[in-house]
Amino acid sequence: MKEVIKVMMTEQEIDARVRQIGEQISKDYAGQEVHLVCVLKGGSFFMCELAKRITIPVSFDFMSVSSYGGDTKSSGMVRIVKDLDEPLEGKNVIVVEDIIDSGRTLSYLLELFGQRKPKSISLCTLLDKPDRRVVDVKVDYTGFNIPDEFVVGFGLDYDQRYRNLPYIGTVEFVEE
Ligand code: IMP
Ligand code: MG
Repeated sequence: MKEVIKVMMTEQEIDARVRQIGEQISKDYAGQEVHLVCVLKGGSFFMCELAKRITIPVSFDFMSVSSYGGDTKSSGMVRIVKDLDEPLEGKNVIVVEDIIDSGRTLSYLLELFGQRKPKSISLCTLLDKPDRRVVDVKVDYTGFNIPDEFVVGFGLDYDQRYRNLPYIGTVEFVEE
């Protein structure tokens, strides 16, 4: 089987939407600072682009989690591979994710981060698949709602590949 990537969102479309979200966050937190928490590895491309479009003071931290199980569906079991370096206490935390699928990863992380006494906590995701939600999570900033299809690019992988694509596309498997 050969993998073919079909474009869903172009680089220009993503850039335009990321700029809008950056402006919105800058307005919502005007006069304050935000602390972006990136969920590695997928969220890293989005977080870097988003940070460039935020005009108020920004700091970052990174967290790495892995969900056990198959390669195209998350199992819901979350393991912390790398915790944050900095405390969250008193900060306006914005968790930045590549995609919310079942919502299990995020609901676990939001609960954990909430215990660390941030001043506020909100959630920003580039992509959301609302049809697949199993656990309810409140999303504050969404780039795009997408249908239940497996996507790659702009940080998202299939078996660790395709993260570097500057656009987002679906993976199709065709006979060679
Ligand atoms: P959740 O816990 O089911 O919401 O899982 C979210 C995580 O599953 C994301 O951070 C991705 O790592 C992965 N994931 C879910 N859907 C996709 C997809 O379409 N492409 C690539 N990774 C995905
Ligand atoms: Mg992820």
